[in-house]
Amino acid sequence: MSVLSHNMETAELFASHLAGLQDTMTQGLTSVKPGADAVLIHSGSLHYHFADDIAKPFRAWGHFLQWVPVDRPDQFLLFRPGQKPVYFAVIPQDFWHDSHIDMPEWWAEQFEIVVLSSVSALCEQLPRHIAPQCVCHFLGEGRDIAESLAIPDSQINPKTLLDWLDYARAYKSRYEISRLAEANATALAGHQAALDMFLMGGDEYEIHMAYLNASRICDDELPYPSIVALNEHSAILHYQHKQRRHGKREPDANRVLLIDAGHRSWGYCSDITRTWVRPGSHPVFAALVKGVERIQNQIIRSLQTEQSYTDHHHATHTAVADLLIETGIAKGHAQDLVDRGITYAFLPHGLGHHLGLQVHDVGGKLSSPAGQIIPPPDQYPALRNTRPIEANMVFTIEPGIYFIDSLLNNIRQDDRANALNWPLVEALMPYGGIRIEDNIWAKPDGKMHNLTRRPITGSLLFRPDVAA
Ligand code: GLY
Ligand code: MN
Ligand code: MN
Repeated sequence: MSVLSHNMETAELFASHLAGLQDTMTQGLTSVKPGADAVLIHSGSLHYHFADDIAKPFRAWGHFLQWVPVDRPDQFLLFRPGQKPVYFAVIPQDFWHDSHIDMPEWWAEQFEIVVLSSVSALCEQLPRHIAPQCVCHFLGEGRDIAESLAIPDSQINPKTLLDWLDYARAYKSRYEISRLAEANATALAGHQAALDMFLMGGDEYEIHMAYLNASRICDDELPYPSIVALNEHSAILHYQHKQRRHGKREPDANRVLLIDAGHRSWGYCSDITRTWVRPGSHPVFAALVKGVERIQNQIIRSLQTEQSYTDHHHATHTAVADLLIETGIAKGHAQDLVDRGITYAFLPHGLGHHLGLQVHDVGGKLSSPAGQIIPPPDQYPALRNTRPIEANMVFTIEPGIYFIDSLLNNIRQDDRANALNWPLVEALMPYGGIRIEDNIWAKPDGKMHNLTRRPITGSLLFRPDVAA
């Protein structure tokens, strides 16, 4: 497919994406903020380290980025029902940085674009676009900016409107699916390079660099800091270091690699975990890896729209209990292991979460646009997605089993101790843990598409039978 036709397809997808956003915002204003005439969305502000002139990495707010794919601070989107949205591109004179903003036609043609040299210029410009008596809501972190625009407090980040928009963000447009698919496809090249480096005996730093290089991404562009965990480190759920070894590579020193790393495509994230075991490792650990893969596969195959995601989380715990019994790690009945919190000690995180402009995307616990929350079950407070599965949601399925010292010690010290085979648990501790994570799109026809296992790339992104 030529670049030209690819851009035409993207332009069509983006145009329909934007039309959907306008409908959602119009309905939101009618339902929860009747009488509102406009909404101004702020991308966010740059923040500095304390007493320093170095800025923290910036990430535009999802509710801005969903409209305008420009990941820059102090950009503004003005929405007025029935009118072309206005993008206020603030491009200050700055000879220290490259302040150019690329505005390709595929998205730029959807906006009236007003280039400003400072945020304060917005005060002069805004009255040209909205009449003084207009009720304008302000969404975003720049409360001071809203106040300088004389927007009253009650119109800054109204919860009812934010809930409405968070709820709607769960339903991805075709444009968004194509970006999420792209973020998956690109990350996979990095995962392959990471596996190769693991087998060659590279340390965490080298594996991380191999991932970045192969997926052509810089550290600060990652959707989240990659988790690159060798051996025992893989039991630390959000392990943050990249350990460096001295001397030459030692392939035998690498027993297990758990790598949780994604990519971003125009703001849209992938979130993929793979766990690799060196051939010849402990046979029970190798069996656990296969078992977690099997559990993941079974869950994905059983997913259907209208089902409760929380039920799948519960089913995962039962499957984990079965696997612990099958491998001789635990004794007793599966349901008993679940009920007594023994599986929780091996799997303390949730089955997954919504995925989009944020890795843990908004709206995963909302039961309605009015902001009602479906809380996670008491025994699983970390479950981030409690919403029923519906068409065009994208979420992760990421079961795992970990040997976490502190959680296992809790069991060892109470009346649950005799449920576990401690010599085997001790022997498996040096292997850390396992997580296998894929990104799933619930298609409108009710089928699931695993964006990680069945990457959609290039022209396939636009084939109605694939991406419909
Ligand atoms: N990468 C963080 C997570 O899987 O939720
Ligand atoms: Mn995840
Ligand atoms: Mn992850």
